[in-house]
Amino acid sequence: MITVCIGDVGYAEDSRPEELPPGEQARLGRLLRPADRRLFLATWTAATRLLAARLQVAPRKVELDRRCARCGDATHGRPVLRQSTLRLSVSHSGEQFAVAIADELDVGVDVEQETAELWSPAMHEVVLAPDEPVPSRASQAVVWTRKEAVLKCVGVGLLAQGAGVVAEVVAAQHRHPEIVEQHPLQ
Ligand SMILES: CC(C)(COP(=O)(O)OP(=O)(O)OC[C@H]1O[C@@H](n2cnc3c(N)ncnc32)[C@H](O)[C@@H]1OP(=O)(O)O)[C@@H](O)C(=O)NCCC(=O)NCCS
Repeated sequence: MITVCIGDVGYAEDSRPEELPPGEQARLGRLLRPADRRLFLATWTAATRLLAARLQVAPRKVELDRRCARCGDATHGRPVLRQSTLRLSVSHSGEQFAVAIADELDVGVDVEQETAELWSPAMHEVVLAPDEPVPSRASQAVVWTRKEAVLKCVGVGLLAQGAGVVAEVVAAQHRHPEIVEQHPLQ
C-alpha cells in the first residue's frame, strides 16, 4: 500500500513542536526563517502522524535515521525509519508539502514551487540529458518534479547525479504511479 498525503503550510496551526520526535524538534530549532519553520512543522507533523498511526505509537516515538549515504553525515540524508520496514519520502516547497509512505517499497515524492529561477539555462544542464529536448513552459515543472521524485525514490539527490543518469532512470520508470490510498488532512 502507498499512502500519499498532500497539504499546505496552514496545517502548522494544528501542529505543536513538542509532538515531533526529538531529532525533528532539533532540526526545526535550527531553522531561522519563520516561513521555513512553519512549513517544516506542517510537513513533519503530517509525516510523523501518518507514520505513528501505522506503527501504533505516539508521533514523538517515530524514530528516523538521516545518515547521508554519500558522506556519512547524520543530519542531512534520506529519512529512514528505524523501527519498521515502512519507507517514506517528503517534499516541501513554497507553501505546499507532500508525504508518501509505502510498505517495504522505496518511494519518492516531489513538489516544487514554480519560479523563474527554477528553469534557467543553467538548470537545463543539471536536469536535462544532453540529447533531451527542452520541455515546453507548461510541462517544465512536471519534468522537474518527476525526475526529482524518481531520484529521491532511489535515494540520491538531483544535484548528485549527472543529467544522463536522470534521463535513463526516468525513461525506465516513465509511468504514473497508482495512488492506492490518499489521506486528505483534517
Ligand atoms: C534531496 C534533494 C533532492 C531535495 O530536494 P529539494 O527540492 O531541495 O527539497 P524537497 O523538499 O523536495 O525534499 C527535501 C526532503 O528530501 C529528503 N531527502 C534528503 N536527502 C535525500 C536523499 N538523498 N534521498 C531522498 N530523500 C532525501 C528529506 O526528507 C528532505 O526533507 P527534510 O529536510 O525536511 O527532511 C536535494 O536537496 C538534493 O539534490 N540533494 C543532494 C544533496 C547531496 O547529495 N548531497 C550530498 C552531500 S554529501
